[in-house]
Amino acid sequence: MQAVILVGGQATRLRPLTINTPKSMVPVLNRPFLEYVIQNLSRHGVTEIILARHHLAGPIESYLGDGSRFGVGIRYVIEEEARGTAGAIKNVEKYLDGTFLALNGDIFSDLDITEIVRFHTEQNARATIALVPVEDPSAYGLIETDLTGRVRRFLEKPDPGEITTNLINAGTYVLEPEVLAQIPPDVQVSIERETYPLLVSSGQPVYAFSFAGYWMDVGTSEKYLQLHRDLLSGKSTWYTPGTDEEVLIGEGCSIDPTAQITGPVVIGAGCTVGEGSIVEDSVIWHDVLLGSRVRVQSSVIADNCTLNDGSIVEGTALGDHVMVVAGGRVEPGSTVEPGERVG
Ligand code: GTP
Repeated sequence: MQAVILVGGQATRLRPLTINTPKSMVPVLNRPFLEYVIQNLSRHGVTEIILARHHLAGPIESYLGDGSRFGVGIRYVIEEEARGTAGAIKNVEKYLDGTFLALNGDIFSDLDITEIVRFHTEQNARATIALVPVEDPSAYGLIETDLTGRVRRFLEKPDPGEITTNLINAGTYVLEPEVLAQIPPDVQVSIERETYPLLVSSGQPVYAFSFAGYWMDVGTSEKYLQLHRDLLSGKSTWYTPGTDEEVLIGEGCSIDPTAQITGPVVIGAGCTVGEGSIVEDSVIWHDVLLGSRVRVQSSVIADNCTLNDGSIVEGTALGDHVMVVAGGRVEPGSTVEPGERVG
């Protein structure tokens, strides 16, 4: 089985973290996000992965290489211009052969790939869309099905009175090659807004497969933090919390014994946390220096930042190589771009 992973978006909502780091390489529990997606595919028997890239392509290829480390072959295909979610799949058509999977590259989930492929085959579907329940579906596109799971209707950001389901598109699809023939080449096309509605309105068998396991899209820094809170408290099958509850510290860190680290917290490799510093409910990437009496709360701090003595960072995301001056304060909701000096 082949899988196309879409990793070519601009990731604007996850800025400033994604100005210099592609969304798919953002660390999750200190490993690039895409590693989990690839491992999930590999353990369900996918052997060939096509990465459809556009924005910030370089670091992905240098990290994943030919994929042999993960037991898969990886082919990289660059779009000269962003083509949208269906256009990106169309762009790799010549490498596809038979039924294939297509995945948004920013979804973290426990989805059982074997089960969705089996369901797709049993239904003789042309396309199968994974669905997941969410508490508040109003901000998403909803998908209505009949009792057999066949898709009847798509509802984009519906009014409250129109909401008849809490199931949303989980960003993972099984597709037949016939779908590719219905996507125009060399233009931007959205699979969720254009291709699927077209297939359904022309009477083609599009099915939905709902699953109840863990699912999170890392579209924003709040969701990225929530993913870590969930993983560290054992909500996904991907991670079993250790005895040191909800705190994960990478290799080669120097943490002063007087520092207070209160989970959920992840600290990347090569970080220093100085005397009397407090870190709470936060994710710190690699090679970050926290001086003495620094406080970091409900924040994400990207690679190579320096937070000097007595500084405070709360409720925000700092881009890489940011320097917070001694005694400085970064207020909740501030946007701090890579390389800035703040506070
Ligand atoms: P925002 O700019 O914050 O909306 O993020 P995004 O650009 O990642 O868009 P979105 O979350 O809608 O994308 C879902 C998935 O599809 C992500 O994994 C993107 O990398 C991918 N994607 C979106 N547009 C394209 C595209 O034009 N080409 C390719 N190859 N992938 C895309």
